[in-house]
Amino acid sequence: MLTLSAVCKRYPTGDLALTDIDLALPRGQVMALIGPSGAGKSTLIRCVNRLVEPTTGSIRLNDTEITRLSSGKLREARRTMAMIFQEYALVDRLTVMENVLSGRLGYVGFWRSFLRRYPQETVTEAFRLLERVGLAHALDKRADALSGGQRQRVGIARALLQSPKLLLVDEPTASLDPKTSRQIMRLIRELCAERELAAIINIHDVALARQFADRIVGLRAGEIVFDGKPGELTSEILTTIYGEEDWDTQATEDERYAPPSAQPLAPLARTGQLAPGLTAGGIR
Ligand SMILES: Nc1ncnc2c1ncn2[C@@H]1O[C@H](COP(=O)(O)OP(=O)(O)O)[C@@H](O)[C@H]1O
Ligand SMILES: [Mg+2]
Repeated sequence: MLTLSAVCKRYPTGDLALTDIDLALPRGQVMALIGPSGAGKSTLIRCVNRLVEPTTGSIRLNDTEITRLSSGKLREARRTMAMIFQEYALVDRLTVMENVLSGRLGYVGFWRSFLRRYPQETVTEAFRLLERVGLAHALDKRADALSGGQRQRVGIARALLQSPKLLLVDEPTASLDPKTSRQIMRLIRELCAERELAAIINIHDVALARQFADRIVGLRAGEIVFDGKPGELTSEILTTIYGEEDWDTQATEDERYAPPSAQPLAPLARTGQLAPGLTAGGIR
């Protein structure tokens, strides 16, 4: 469904953020993109909807060559690729419902959205989505009165109101506590399954990636160094992605900060050990 071919990104500063990225994401697949800070995760996700212009290479979404679209057509294509941010990007003084409805701004035309008059079916769908993400009781609350987890739920509902085919999710749990992080990841996972959405989720928490993704891609210094199933992600490969020291630190922190009430971690994450019989075969 989404195909990246030989995508490179060099920023005007000279930083080479992505080198020769080839990646194909089938419909309905939830992919976690892991890697240390500065590896190029945000750049990759932003190249897909061209918030960042790739320097070379091509990106296709179904039959549309995203990298060749004029700005008008790009606006249309972006509706099918909803973004969910770490910082939620809500309008604080608007209500939960209004924030979700703003997900349709690209559809309803300037005057209608300026007057905040949305078609009844859009309002009904927004309500249904808020119910689905567990916020039906908070429709009229101002966004700035919500907890971090609730704000992320609003961001998710707003993204889904665009009826996207692909979710681009940048560090959705970076500002959340471990338990809320799991709940949010589970919600994204379930919604993708219900709606057959593909997703790229940038996440630096390896345990979460393992628990909730179908596929894990490891990025290091702008290059893909691992592409496989969560069960194939050995500590050897993690060392390749993160480097010895970083990975050791991360493993112990995962253990230390998990509250007793949190969902149990996937077996691999709990032990932090090599999966039996697996080798570094996934590295390329
Ligand atoms: N707007 C920018 N201008 C110049 N360099 C950038 C910009 N954004 C990111 N970079 C550089 O590109 C590399 C990848 O960054 P980024 O995609 O943000 O990584 P990640 O999301 O994995 O932390 C880093 O070296 C970073 O300094
Ligand atoms: Mg980033």
